[in-house]
Amino acid sequence: MIENRATTARDGASDPPRFGPPLMARLDALAAFTEVPGQLTRRYLTPAHLAAMRQVQAWMEEAGMRVRVDAVCNVLGRYEGRKAGAPALMLGSHIDSVVDAGKYDGNLGVLAAIAAVGELAGRGERLDHAIEVVAFGEEEGIRFPTHLLTSSALACTLEPAIFDVRDREGVSVREALANAGGDADAYRSCACERDGVAAYLELHIEQGPVLHDKGHAAAVVTAIDGAIRLIVTLHGFAGHAGTVPMGFRRDALAAAAEMIVAIERLGGSHADLVATVGRMDARPGAPNVIPGRVEFTVDMRSPHDAVRHRAQRELLALLRDIATRRRIEIETQIYQEIPATALDPGITTAVREAIAACGMDVLELSSGAGHDAMMMAKLCPAGMIFVRCKEGISHNPAEQITAADADVAVRVLLDTVRRLDRRFAAGA
Ligand code: HGY
Ligand code: MN
Ligand code: MN
Repeated sequence: MIENRATTARDGASDPPRFGPPLMARLDALAAFTEVPGQLTRRYLTPAHLAAMRQVQAWMEEAGMRVRVDAVCNVLGRYEGRKAGAPALMLGSHIDSVVDAGKYDGNLGVLAAIAAVGELAGRGERLDHAIEVVAFGEEEGIRFPTHLLTSSALACTLEPAIFDVRDREGVSVREALANAGGDADAYRSCACERDGVAAYLELHIEQGPVLHDKGHAAAVVTAIDGAIRLIVTLHGFAGHAGTVPMGFRRDALAAAAEMIVAIERLGGSHADLVATVGRMDARPGAPNVIPGRVEFTVDMRSPHDAVRHRAQRELLALLRDIATRRRIEIETQIYQEIPATALDPGITTAVREAIAACGMDVLELSSGAGHDAMMMAKLCPAGMIFVRCKEGISHNPAEQITAADADVAVRVLLDTVRRLDRRFAAGA
């Protein structure tokens, strides 16, 4: 295991880890804003999300930022450069979570960015650029079948039809926004001016095992896998579990089971492909009733769009064959698709230099997880920094980072920001 040499970050050759402990304490505090006591579940526009927004807003103000909440409930803090109104280097990530989540997915990137701005403000240091820290509200797509909704509003790629999409309680995004003080009809006001953002840099846990296995605290992210998400709905025929002979059944759940094993096999058929069925719902859901209707999700990803597109064609063909053989009607609805995203070479160079300047060996890798950086890359040059998480565990309450790595995160982020400030100011 190549342990990192002691970090001799720019902020002091042998500083004790002064960023790590307070950052870990804030991550613990933010995790308390949850829909479900005893676990972290914080879906977009729930009271837990709104409470977390208020806490992030307070920390941004404490760090010397002017804070606003936009029409789709992003929280944005601005730290002016030497000249007011300068283009911004945008930092951030998301504060919504999956169900029973870890504390660090998304939240680390937002709070590390606030810590970095707090450090600059504490030194009275101003850059050529402003710094804007954004806490995106909807990256996970858990409450609504949406994805990167609030970063798409900033990137000016949002389709307004998304506001009519409903959660499983039948509440639309539009209604949830209105209840939260947002305003779907004002979404255009969220869009960033193209010349107002020089670059977007997102720090995030890797959510995979590579940094842990190779003993690196931080790494350069070169690209983000493309992804597609579908909802598959199967219509069979509900019947009495005791009286319908096996050969006469149109069992939607048995059909789904055969499909799910076939999807797993498809995901394993190519080194650069993964496929997951993450949620399934069988109706009517009674032990003595043959299931008449099943709905399940499929998430498929690859760093190569051609591989994913081929797999999508194979997927639809195999689902159709199984449905036909079992006399089941099938509907498939693609509700998210985002191409593989290459990150900006200028930003990856700055991250590489910052990691080296912080006394560490440089590791580069692509991301299997999706991030708001995919959407922000449509607006401006975008880059990412990965931070190690224990055994790569994520989307799991066992997700864990160390205070030492949290300290490295802020130091690498700060060093990268200073490099980007010079790089983009010089028009390099
Ligand atoms: O699904 C993802 O990759 C991200 O965690 N939303
Ligand atoms: Mn996530
Ligand atoms: Mn995330």
